[in-house]
Amino acid sequence: MPFFRSVEDAEARLGAAKYIADRRIATAVYLADQLEKPILVEGPAGVGKTELAKTLAYVTGCELIRMQCYEGLDEAKALYEWEYPKQLLYTQILRDKIGEVVAGAGSLSEAVERLAVQEDAFFSERFLLARPLLQAIRSPKRTVLLIDEVDRAEAEFEAFLLELLSDFQVSVPELGTLRAREVPLVILTSNNAREMTDALKRRCLHLHIDFPTAERELEIVRQRLPGIAAKLSAQVVAVVQAVRALDLKKRPSVSETLDWARALVVLNAGELDEALARETLNLILKYEGDVERTEEKLGEIVTAARAKA
Ligand SMILES: Nc1ncnc2c1ncn2[C@@H]1O[C@H](COP(=O)(O)OP(=O)(O)OP(=O)(O)O)[C@@H](O)[C@H]1O
Ligand SMILES: [Mg+2]
Repeated sequence: MPFFRSVEDAEARLGAAKYIADRRIATAVYLADQLEKPILVEGPAGVGKTELAKTLAYVTGCELIRMQCYEGLDEAKALYEWEYPKQLLYTQILRDKIGEVVAGAGSLSEAVERLAVQEDAFFSERFLLARPLLQAIRSPKRTVLLIDEVDRAEAEFEAFLLELLSDFQVSVPELGTLRAREVPLVILTSNNAREMTDALKRRCLHLHIDFPTAERELEIVRQRLPGIAAKLSAQVVAVVQAVRALDLKKRPSVSETLDWARALVVLNAGELDEALARETLNLILKYEGDVERTEEKLGEIVTAARAKA
């Protein structure tokens, strides 16, 4: 059963959960749901890539299964591994029983043969440690699977993901093929640390989330900080939007806009002036060079923002 009735339904339900989607985001979500295709979300840091998956889980009532990618991530950490310490513990406790099984064996190889017959007992579900991808496949209910920051993992891992994302099944040699009962809603995110392969892109719906327009950003701030003064929120957004247009090493993201607005509320500011902006600029800019560059223009930017708001 699909989760969403239409693009509008997706947009409205995300919005009700305080995720302000635009038409493109809502369309990607609706199509991913209908076509059972993963979404590859790319874009700068802090624009709501991870939050989209979290909100989707929330609005659909699904469990969120999150796999954080990193350099060196491999199948054992992503899919499953055998729980070796537990297997070892069982062999210790069952030492006498194992003794009985091999008792009277004429040779070492005969003893090994006799033990091998019992092998299934140790390579059963009981000792299988399911990692996020297997959890998503085995879940009896549909889940939201977030494969976060996939660009941090190596290309080899991407190749392995491809297989999984095309048929949602995996083979565990000792147990056979496991096929997803319900295809999860999959969100992959990337910060463009490296380019994803064409093969991966082909299997996914592609969604680029950029910095929001002023209108959408203002709505995000007002949704997330309902108590904020109308004038202050409009000024904050106008300043951030102008700062983003400067030539900076790291442009402020939505999460920084929210941090700044929150800080100004804590400081009991009803509106933003140049002095206050200067004192709190470190909330949106994280490099000294960026702060200096912005300070040169700050007077103009704040005046324009106050006029606009
Ligand atoms: N469209 C949106 N609606 C509501 N809140 C948003 C939206 N976009 C971003 N946010 C806010 O910005 C914060 C940061 O978003 P998120 O962590 O999803 O960024 P990201 O794109 O995953 O960044 P990174 O690449 O650094 O992981 C969220 O916690 C949320 O509060
Ligand atoms: Mg993220």
